[in-house]
Order: sequence, then structure tokens, then C-alpha cells
Amino acid sequence: MTASPRTSAQPTEDAAAFLRVREAMPALAACLSAEDLAAQSMPDCSPGKWHLAHTSWFFEAMILAREPGYLPVDPRFQALFNSYYEALGHRVDRPERGLMTRPSLDEVLAYRREIDRRMVAWLDDGPAGAFERYLFTLGLHHDQQHQELFLMDLLHLMSRSPLDPAAYTAEPRARPVEPSTGGWSRFGGGLVTVGHDVADFAFDNEGPAHRVWLEPYALADDLVTNGDWLGFIADGGYARAELWLADGWSAVKAEGWTAPLYWRDEGSDWTVMTLTGRQPVDRDAPVRHISFYEADAFARWAGNRLPTEAEWEHAVKCRSATPGNAFGEVWQWTSSAYAPYPGFRPTEGTASEYNGKFMANQMVLRGSSFATPVGHQRVSYRNFFYPHQRWAFMGLRLAGDAISAPVRASQEGETARFRRDLIAGLSRSPKTASPKWFYDAEGSRLFEEITRLPEYYPTRQEAALLRRVAPEWAVQFGAEAVLVEFGSGASEKTRIVLDAAPDLAAYVPIDISADALDAAARRIADAYPGLTVSPLVGDFLLLGALPAGIARGRHVGFFPGSTIGNLEPAEAVAFLKAARALLGDESLFILGVDLIKEPEVLIAAYDDSQGVTAAFNRNLLVRANRELGADFDTDAFTHRAVWNADQSRMEMHLEAKRALSVRIAGQAVVFHAGETIHTENSRKFSEDSIRSLAAAAGWRVAAFARSEAPSVALALLVA
Ligand SMILES: C[S@@+](CC[C@H](N)C(=O)[O-])C[C@H]1O[C@@H](n2cnc3c(N)ncnc32)[C@H](O)[C@@H]1O
Repeated sequence: MTASPRTSAQPTEDAAAFLRVREAMPALAACLSAEDLAAQSMPDCSPGKWHLAHTSWFFEAMILAREPGYLPVDPRFQALFNSYYEALGHRVDRPERGLMTRPSLDEVLAYRREIDRRMVAWLDDGPAGAFERYLFTLGLHHDQQHQELFLMDLLHLMSRSPLDPAAYTAEPRARPVEPSTGGWSRFGGGLVTVGHDVADFAFDNEGPAHRVWLEPYALADDLVTNGDWLGFIADGGYARAELWLADGWSAVKAEGWTAPLYWRDEGSDWTVMTLTGRQPVDRDAPVRHISFYEADAFARWAGNRLPTEAEWEHAVKCRSATPGNAFGEVWQWTSSAYAPYPGFRPTEGTASEYNGKFMANQMVLRGSSFATPVGHQRVSYRNFFYPHQRWAFMGLRLAGDAISAPVRASQEGETARFRRDLIAGLSRSPKTASPKWFYDAEGSRLFEEITRLPEYYPTRQEAALLRRVAPEWAVQFGAEAVLVEFGSGASEKTRIVLDAAPDLAAYVPIDISADALDAAARRIADAYPGLTVSPLVGDFLLLGALPAGIARGRHVGFFPGSTIGNLEPAEAVAFLKAARALLGDESLFILGVDLIKEPEVLIAAYDDSQGVTAAFNRNLLVRANRELGADFDTDAFTHRAVWNADQSRMEMHLEAKRALSVRIAGQAVVFHAGETIHTENSRKFSEDSIRSLAAAAGWRVAAFARSEAPSVALALLVA
């Protein structure tokens, strides 16, 4: 079916998206000379002029040429600008691309403009079907890939000049590097799903989604820095065969490697060639331009290892534990060979050559680099290079086997995490912030005030329901049981369980808010003198181990308040799985959830008449000002509570009343009037959705109790 031609003079949304992507590479080329754009510095690289032409050729060969009776802009370009598509016939060998002085740069730019014109006309008619639409989107992503290749190849070219020329006055990048936190995150592993499984675009090599077994593992929160690398060099890293894979050691000797690509030993210090010319090596910046062999040797030297690509992807999908600079700084080497996923099928037709035929002898890199265009990154993205290659914007992050340690995190570490998380969230579009940062001492106090508001039914209803079911459910706890509460806050509902189960031996409240936790633990210890109270400060999404030898009985998880609704669906499954692993095979779990109901009731609960919820929401900004030295004008943001029916969730936002710029830890964040920070989701559930969630995480629902309206529910889960 062909859509009827559009008559509007306005470009369609597709055409506008197309032109936005297409203008990026000419913009990168604008300040460069025709000579800069014609030279080729090594066989792996291509001249800038070739990238400008090839990305246009791709649209012509893959899309326009499929149209019946299509006449090419210049038939000779088919062979000149074909990269590696055997099905499309003869082409110029890659090492020879720098010899093409004709067509001139002006002619290539004219070719680009003509392809853009023809593509806009094609889009105006509307892509005929789903496959054409896929090819169109593939073309856009292909163009974006080449925008990064353009910069990689340009840097290599500039590095070959004794003049150390600066290609640009400032590095072309979308956002600043995230500050380091110096920590590690632990992940329980288990049977996890990796790969692309949603409807949005992905390259064929990212799917299908499939299950992978992960042993517990740990991942560094930060990328390895130049300072770290200097330590490796100083310790003889490049001279110690025992650190290297055999092929890596051969490369060290054959290539004479003593440092990352582009580094130069200046006697007392090192410099590095960059897109802004030769610069002193910045010790705090993530190291770049290292081969897989170097990354692997460094990891061994550091007593760690590289992550597998499944570990990397799983860690990044667990949103709250997102490693720092996962995206937007350097592609990160993994220990995974680039191979097809189970069930992999290449895209049909000519584009089948895009990825699949390269699946031998290369290694996977994950994340994205500072040069990756905005909108081109994906958690499932699989970049790949040969293990000796160094000219891409590639670095590393260390991994290790699970470190068994309690959840406790230092306050200093928490502030750094808050800074990193907030800056990362506000750099996204739309802007987001994790709800876990609501709960400083004032946030926890405000939340308790919310629970007493007439409009806020969940606490009242859940407490009443708990009083009804706790005596019956507590019978199953058995002797010497341990109650482990996640996000315990003021531990008020806990008392209902403790009263119903006088035989409980120990109570382990876990909360990210140290102030709320300490005060609540003291109150509970005073009120229940026979109970061992052992609080853990920290993030319940980063579960380590429970305090050793705490009690011999069954472990009972307790997660009331529908806090599970604050988690993304995948995160909720991962959390419940990790909780099951933490609590053990005999465990029980009491889960409190809010149920789907009339939007008016929900909205009133999240936008009360006294403005307490608004103050709770805005307290995030107050906290950022106090702890991070940010300069939010808190009066410039309005509290918004919105029911999102598609996602079955209440959303809280902070909406900027006017355009403004805010500084956080030296970095500027710009808001336009009406732009929001999405601060919280509170997903609402049905009995069915709770049963599916529990099953996906390996729990069985032994009982499900529902309160009177406005209704909430409690589920008793059994491991
Ligand atoms: C909505 S309140 C619920 C408090 C209490 N459980 C109740 O039902 O009233 C959420 C609590 O979870 C804590 N919290 C939120 N995210 C957390 C995280 N990722 N790790 C640990 N605690 C968290 C907050 O500090 C807060 O005390």
C-alpha cells in the first residue's frame, strides 16, 4: 500500500527528523578545509569527504534505488561510495579511498543536497511499508554512526601531522563528563534477559532478546581514568608479559606500545592528541584510545576483569544503579566476543550485510562515546572492533566477581551518587530524577505528614488491611524468624507485624535515608526490647548480604507502601528476584501495593489541598541546593501530579514556570518554560499484574488481600 501524497508545504515529521540528522555531518565539516576532508591517514580510516558521500549513497542504494525506474544522481557513484556491500557489486578498496580527488568536495556536497531533496520527496509520498520505514530509520542511524566515524578518522588524520592541528576549538560533545564516585555496585545476577525487545528501532545484531545466566558480579561505578592508566605504566604494565594475552603481548612488541594511542612522553609528563590539538593528559578524565588487549591487561593488573556484555547491559538496565558515564564518554570494552545472539536473523535484503558478516574475531564494546550523536545510544547497542584497534573513542570499566558485603554505603558516597544521578537525569530529555533522592531528613518528615493527610488514603487503608491479615499470616513465620523491611521509613506499619508476631527474633530495616532509619530503629528497639534490631543504610536496589548470624529462622521480607510502584517494571522484577536471593529459599515476602482506581481519587492523593505533596516534591530541589551547592530557584517550579492511563501510573513532575538556567556542581542545566523534571512514578496494580510480577521474579502468591475502597492490596509471597 502506498500512502497518498501529502500536499502541505511543511516538511513532514519524518522529513524534519531526516534533515536534522543530515545536517550534523556537514556542520562537523564546515570549519575544515577541502584538504582536511580529502586525506586518508590509514587503511582503517576514510576521508571526511568519503563519509559525506557514503552516507548519502546509503539512502540512494538502500531506499531510492528500490523505486521502479529510478535514475541515479551519478551512476559512477555506486562503485565509488559503496563501503562493503558485495551484493551491490564492484567498489573502490578501502585503503584507496584517499586517492579519490574527484569528485571534488563541492561535487560531493551537491550530491548530498540532491539526495536530501530526493529523500524529502520520497518521505512526502510516505514510506510504502514497514520494511521501507525500517530502512529509512536504518539510514538515519547509519548516518549517525558515520558522524562518529568522521570524528575518529579526523582525529587520526590530525595526529599524523607534526603540527598537532586542532580540528575544533572545543570538543564536539553533547554533555560534560559525570564526576567520579569511586565506588562499586554489586548485582545478584541470576537468570536475566538481555538484548533488544521493544518496538523502537535497533540494529539486527541487538536481538533477539534472550535469557542469560549471570553469577553475582560487581561493576565499577566509574570508568578507568588516565590517572589510573599512569599507575599501570609506572608499574611496568607495558613491559610485563604475564599481564597480557598472547596476541596482546605480540601486538605490544610488534607495535612498540608504551601508552594509549595519541599519548606522547614529554619527559616529565604526558600529552595526548585530541580534536582540540595536543593537550596535557588530564589525570581525572576517562582513558581513551586503548585496544582490547590493553584493557584486558589493565584489568588483570588491577586484580579485576572486564565485564561481559550481558553484565554491562543488566547493570545499566537496573536504573538506580546505573554506572557513571555508562553513556556519552567512551565505548567500554567487554570480554564478550562479537557473535550472533541465539535466534539472530540478519535484516532481509542488501542490509543483511550490515552487521552479521562481521561476527568473527571482534570484541563487543558497550555504552557510547562523547562523539556519539544524541539519540543514537541504546542500552542494547553492540559496537564491535578488532582487539588490536585503538582509534575509536574506546575505554574501559572494571568488573569483578561478587563482593559479599553489607548494603551500608558511606554518606560521602551517597552525596556523590546523588550528584551523579541528578546531573545524569537532568541531562536526559525529558529530564528525570530518581524518587529515592526525595528522602533526606526533611523529605522523610514530609512523607510522614503526607501519610496523615485526608486525601492520602494508601497508608490508612494499608495499615487497616495489615491489622486484618497479619495475625493469620504471622503464624507461618515460625520460630526465630527475621523481618527484613525494604524502604522502612518511619517503621510505623512494622509495629503491626511485630505485634502480630511476638516470636520474631530480629528486625532488619533497610532505607536510603540515614536520619529516618536511625530514628525509627531506635524507637523500635525501645518499644520491643526482646528484638534484635539491625538497621542497614543503603539502596535496596544494591543488595549485598544481611548481617551475619542474625537469627536462625525464616527470613520474611516486608515491602509496604507500594514503594514497588516507584520502580520501572524491569527494575521491580530485578528487585524481587534479588530480594528472593537475599532472603533465601524458605522465605516469605509481604508486598503492599496500591490498586488502579478512579483518576480523581489518585490525583487528589498526589496533589493535596494543603500543598504538602508539592513541598515534598520541591524538597528535591532544596536538597540539591543544600547538598550539591545547586542554585535552583525553588519558587520557579510548580508541582504537577498526572495520571498516565497508558502506563497505569501516577506521575509527579516539577514544571519550570519560566525559562531558567541552574548550576549544579559547576555544570549548567537549562530549562525552557513549561519543561518538567519527572520526579516519580507510582505504578498502580491489579491482582493479575501482581501475580505476573511475582511469577516473573520467582515468587508464588500464597494469599492476596484487598482493602475496602479506596482499595489497596497486600500479597503474601512464598519463595
Ligand atoms: C513511600 S516511602 C514508604 C515508607 C514506608 N515503607 C511506608 O510504607 O510508609 C518510601 C521509603 O523507601 C525509601 N527508599 C526509597 N527508595 C529507596 C532505595 N532505592 N533504597 C532504600 N530505600 C529507599 C525512602 O527513604 C522511604 O523511606
